[in-house]
Amino acid sequence: MVFRFQHFVTRPNSPEMPRIARAEGIYLWDGDGHRMIDGSSGAISVNIGHCNPEVTAAMQAQIEQLTYANPMQWENGANIELAERLAALVGWGFDAAFFVSGGSEANEAAIKLARQVALARGQDARRKVISRVPSYHGATTALLGVVGDPNYSDPFDPLFVSHPKVPAPITYRRPAGETPEAVTERCLTALEDTIAREGPETILAFLIEPVGGVSTGALVASDRYMTRIREICTQHGILLMFDEIMSGAGRTGRFLAAHHWPDCRPDIVTLAKGVSGSYAPLGAVMAAGELVMEVRAAGGLRHGHTYIGHPLSCAASNAVLKVVEGQGLIENAARMGERLRAGLETLASRHQAIGDVRGLGLLLAMEIVRERNTRSPWPAEAMASEYLVQCCRRNGASFYSRRTAGGSNGEWLMICPPLTCDADQIDELLGALDAGLSEFARTMPAAVA
Ligand SMILES: Cc1ncc(COP(=O)(O)O)c(C=O)c1O
Repeated sequence: MVFRFQHFVTRPNSPEMPRIARAEGIYLWDGDGHRMIDGSSGAISVNIGHCNPEVTAAMQAQIEQLTYANPMQWENGANIELAERLAALVGWGFDAAFFVSGGSEANEAAIKLARQVALARGQDARRKVISRVPSYHGATTALLGVVGDPNYSDPFDPLFVSHPKVPAPITYRRPAGETPEAVTERCLTALEDTIAREGPETILAFLIEPVGGVSTGALVASDRYMTRIREICTQHGILLMFDEIMSGAGRTGRFLAAHHWPDCRPDIVTLAKGVSGSYAPLGAVMAAGELVMEVRAAGGLRHGHTYIGHPLSCAASNAVLKVVEGQGLIENAARMGERLRAGLETLASRHQAIGDVRGLGLLLAMEIVRERNTRSPWPAEAMASEYLVQCCRRNGASFYSRRTAGGSNGEWLMICPPLTCDADQIDELLGALDAGLSEFARTMPAAVA
């Protein structure tokens, strides 16, 4: 018997995942021919929708011209074009790009780059990467040391170096009596205290998702938080690293989420997911050329993979970004994000299950609770968000859900359709969600009783 176990990640007790038959634009069709909106753009990654003919044609052309050349020996045109395109989209003089095969690889490469910058500056003591709880930055063994969710890291504790963590500025589940402003101050103090306790000269970088992804359900920090973290990092010579793997490539209504905070320019940015629209595996590390040149002057970058700068992935990404720019999809994400958010707020006024709506642009999340006024969560065994996903699928939209740290930080659905969606499609998505939430309200209490 052929044995696949990828579904054990999310469904250890289920023999199989449902099959997907085909996808086009913002829609998915399951094996029974049932059509659904892809309400979370795959893994918040199919930014321009499925099977776009301009992208598939560009990929076909690349396949016929060049599928691979050893990146340790050859440059390829798609790789050069992508570096130029991304440098223009990111701005800030970030003209150094390094392309890998996905988000985890990008964060690994970024941390190695940061470490080599420290070594080039004669700062060998800088070895610690501060990150936040909760957070997600990737699945490799080294990255588990910075991922702020024990569900991912616990079994592997003996295998990696654990780095210092500080709380993410979550305002929805704040202690009783604390204001949102006090949450910001508490989290900034925690960062400063951690730096002082560990020794500023030992800190290499502060790594955050500038707009949270699945790990926090689209957490948006206050302007003060963003401004202060930049100041604190600059004060101590700490590199500020933005993981824009989910938030980047236009999803929040700017090319980078970082572009929303002109006072908070990071030193290194990582991208993946939407940057190639999931047409081919791709991750990117972007930084200012001067930073990378410091490493070059000190002997060069000690890092690489067989598939860095892969021509097919770079060609797919070039074609995806042409669609993003050509169709004005970043502006569309901002506009449709406002419409979607307003619709979600309206749904929240009618459905007890919606505790909070948050996010930026089309990176939105809906926190699921048992009762809105008390913010009381469902018991973990109720699998409430997973059940709501099933209800929504039956009513025409599929979403990605998450219970971070086994539910102790809450649970949510990511409401993140492709950036190509129009007003009618947003309304269709809201209709499916409304019907799914009604089915949930009718049937869920019975299911946990
Ligand atoms: C914020 C963030 N960082 C890193 C990753 C890891 O990316 P990948 O799954 O492509 O390795 C993810 C994936 O979901 C993510 O959301």
